[in-house]
Amino acid sequence: MSVERPIVRPHLARLPGYAPVVPLSERAARAGLAPQACFKLDANENPYGMLDGVRDALQQAMQEAGFGAVYPDPNQTELRTALASYTGLEPAMILAGAGADELLDLTLRAVLAPGSVIITCTPSFGMYPFLADLNQLELIDVPRGEGFALRPDALLQTVQSVRERDVDSVVILTSPNNPTGDLVPRDLLTTLLDRGATVMLDEAYIEFAGLEASAQDLLSAHPRLIIMRTFSKWAGIAGLRLGYMLANAGLIADLAKVKQPYNVNQAAEIAGIAAINVADEIALQIDAIRNTRSLLFDGLQSIDGLDALPSAANFILVRVDPAIGSGRELHDRLASVGVFVRTYSDPLLAGSLRISVPRHDQVDELLERISGVLESAHST
Ligand SMILES: Cc1ncc(COP(=O)(O)O)c(C=O)c1O
Repeated sequence: MSVERPIVRPHLARLPGYAPVVPLSERAARAGLAPQACFKLDANENPYGMLDGVRDALQQAMQEAGFGAVYPDPNQTELRTALASYTGLEPAMILAGAGADELLDLTLRAVLAPGSVIITCTPSFGMYPFLADLNQLELIDVPRGEGFALRPDALLQTVQSVRERDVDSVVILTSPNNPTGDLVPRDLLTTLLDRGATVMLDEAYIEFAGLEASAQDLLSAHPRLIIMRTFSKWAGIAGLRLGYMLANAGLIADLAKVKQPYNVNQAAEIAGIAAINVADEIALQIDAIRNTRSLLFDGLQSIDGLDALPSAANFILVRVDPAIGSGRELHDRLASVGVFVRTYSDPLLAGSLRISVPRHDQVDELLERISGVLESAHST
């Protein structure tokens, strides 16, 4: 008797899957270079890595009997208390997860039944369409316009027409946006909220814009606002997977019941608390990244054939003159000299590349490698 393998639900089996970043070791091996000789600028990590104070806290925790052997705190009490002091909000308005990705998924799954709608403004973070597919949500896109600017009227109109269909929906906005680097205008946000929209505002990169650019002060008056944050970008611990969300206490309490009980592992919890304790020192790295962003921007603008977009985040989107080739072609040429940047299959971004801001001491060499590749492109 032939026994068939279990079948994955058809909507999942059809998914193309999320295209995550390829590990540095693999990319370096493909280029025939040592990882240390390469620039990993494809995932917007903190180029200075984990701060010593965070590393010390982890090392100390590892000396303790029980570290890693017992389950982490399902209520995340210490971490949420630390996050309360970092954000100035009550712990009851905060929930942590294994990266913002987990919380995006958890929230969409908990709030929206299959067949509901998410409204996005591409180009934006590729996780949103992936989660729409995963959770059987209808994705309605309001593409950005000239210069990748949001189109507030079109967005408000779309929200209204979805409401008229009497279907639940969530608007996902990203501030600063990945990959365009711009902030969501505050009046657009308040108009959406005043009109009763549920807005999931992804502030994964907010530290690079300055926390004063956050919309968290709107939370108390707007129970339909949900804010996502992460430690992956500013705190240098992307590999440990730690994110958190800010929302009204009722929603947080419900999500706390349906999340995986031990979703934040002990190492992430310890590193997150330590990062908050040394946030003043990490702020110096953030300052350095912001200064380097200006240098990189000016350097890219001075290269023939490239057009950089101003950014409030720790990356810059660069449009490539079609005379040079597509974004993908330039990406491949850069990879061959050990410069790993982000390229896109989305047609809106076929002519663009996203480059994470490197360490300050790396900018000159990075610009040299990019110019070198472009000179050889011009001459072929
Ligand atoms: C806009 C945005 N949100 C969320 C994330 C995911 O963050 P985390 O590493 O916390 O899952 C990213 C990572 O690239 C991002 O760009």
